[in-house]
Amino acid sequence: MPTEQRSHVVAIDQGTTSTRAMVFDRSGRVVAVDQLEHRQIFPRAGWVEHDPVEIWENTRVVVGGALAKANLNATHVAAVGITNQRETTVVWDRTTGEPAYNAIVWQDTRTQAICDALAGDEGPERFADRTGLPLATYFAGPKVRWILDNVEWARERAEAGDLVFGTIDTWLLWNLTGGATDGGVHVTDVTNASRTLLMDLRTLSWAEDVAAEMGIPLSMLPEIRSSSEAYGTCQPGILIGVPVAGILGDQHAATFGQACLEAGTAKNTYGTGNFMLLNTGEEIVRSRNGLITTVCYQLGDAKPVYALEGSIAVTGSLIQWLRDNLGIIDSAKDVEALAATVDDNGGAYFVPAFSGLFAPYWRPDARGALVGLTRFVNKGHVARAALEATAFQTREVLDAMNADSGVPLTELRVDGGMVVNETLMQFQADILGVDVVRPEVIETTALGAAYAAGLAVGYWSSPDEIRANWGEDKRWSPQMPVEERERLFRTWKKAVQRTLDWVD
Ligand code: G3P
Repeated sequence: MPTEQRSHVVAIDQGTTSTRAMVFDRSGRVVAVDQLEHRQIFPRAGWVEHDPVEIWENTRVVVGGALAKANLNATHVAAVGITNQRETTVVWDRTTGEPAYNAIVWQDTRTQAICDALAGDEGPERFADRTGLPLATYFAGPKVRWILDNVEWARERAEAGDLVFGTIDTWLLWNLTGGATDGGVHVTDVTNASRTLLMDLRTLSWAEDVAAEMGIPLSMLPEIRSSSEAYGTCQPGILIGVPVAGILGDQHAATFGQACLEAGTAKNTYGTGNFMLLNTGEEIVRSRNGLITTVCYQLGDAKPVYALEGSIAVTGSLIQWLRDNLGIIDSAKDVEALAATVDDNGGAYFVPAFSGLFAPYWRPDARGALVGLTRFVNKGHVARAALEATAFQTREVLDAMNADSGVPLTELRVDGGMVVNETLMQFQADILGVDVVRPEVIETTALGAAYAAGLAVGYWSSPDEIRANWGEDKRWSPQMPVEERERLFRTWKKAVQRTLDWVD
């Protein structure tokens, strides 16, 4: 069947805790979904790993599952798009397909000493002008360096050209397009490359001198391409013959799927962490308030669009922590009911600095704190404080964004798993003092990747269709008196200070 006559587009959304495949129709509606969680591996305090082989296997299973639920097969699929947890780093042998080490996840803080050594006297902003990023454990480059320094033979094999690096998009694309046996394509897109600390934001090519400083051979790095073009064709397997035609890091995909296509528009995604991106158009805006500069997306040959980003490491994963480590809820969705057993936080504030603090502090040495406790505080208050932590951290990022852009945001588009939580959304609007707006399709991450892939093969004709397909579902307006909002936020800031003071 000619591509433009094929009826659907598939998106693979490889996230921090699970992998999903979604089938979309031409109106941007979800036709079928399949999802599998993967293991979270914590070998030591501060270390977080995934098994890349498990992730690849899960990807195949969920793609097959979603197509089966939709009663479709590969001949109905016009294109596949990939969106992924960003920064998570895989190094593998291109001749065998075997990973040299587990994937080192974005939340992992083991590269602190590498980052400190690279920062030297110039400090963590040493490569910020080139890459848009501070030297921090969050980003991929130092993780590659750690593998080369710590896995026996890795450096030798990398220098011989056998080992390659990729973020998860690259790992999945390489496997989908043939892997070691059938000439897998070794490519990443500009958005994922902009999370490595290795890409020059202006030229959109690898900053060779930075890679050399970091001790990473250029032969390991994938080719950088736009976010919307045909990269390769799926080899035998569930999607045989289907072009992979869109790649976007998950937060960039959500920005695209939320139709934040004009400079000045922003979205906030509530996932494992929270990530607010403000589209700054073709301009590279430098933050003076703790945000990072990143590529928002690039469609084929068009000029790249940039964004300012406020990254928060722990929001949804704090709710998982209440479930898995404290056992005060049985499932993540129970947190809303538990929080509703109390009227307020009872004076408790929970700063979840489990991976240090990202924006706007960039303090990897910060550690989490639950403060303001009295004999009165119960598990309902703890649940409430955990939810409020998401809203307070988002306020810090929004304040930074307003200060950087000089034009205060008047409303915030939201998406991601936690936006079904009405208590949180109302509190978010109260603490921000602006409207919070939820779209009809909250699966904007997968939708953005589907759009990027569909646009590349002519399934959709222009981004105008994305604008036309976007619809508002619900809006929360601030109801809290301003004095109360500011009193709560001031107390939150005092709690944050405790986490910064923790380590000498
Ligand atoms: O930068 C990390 C981010 O991409 C992870 O996203 O949705 O898995 O929390 P998520």
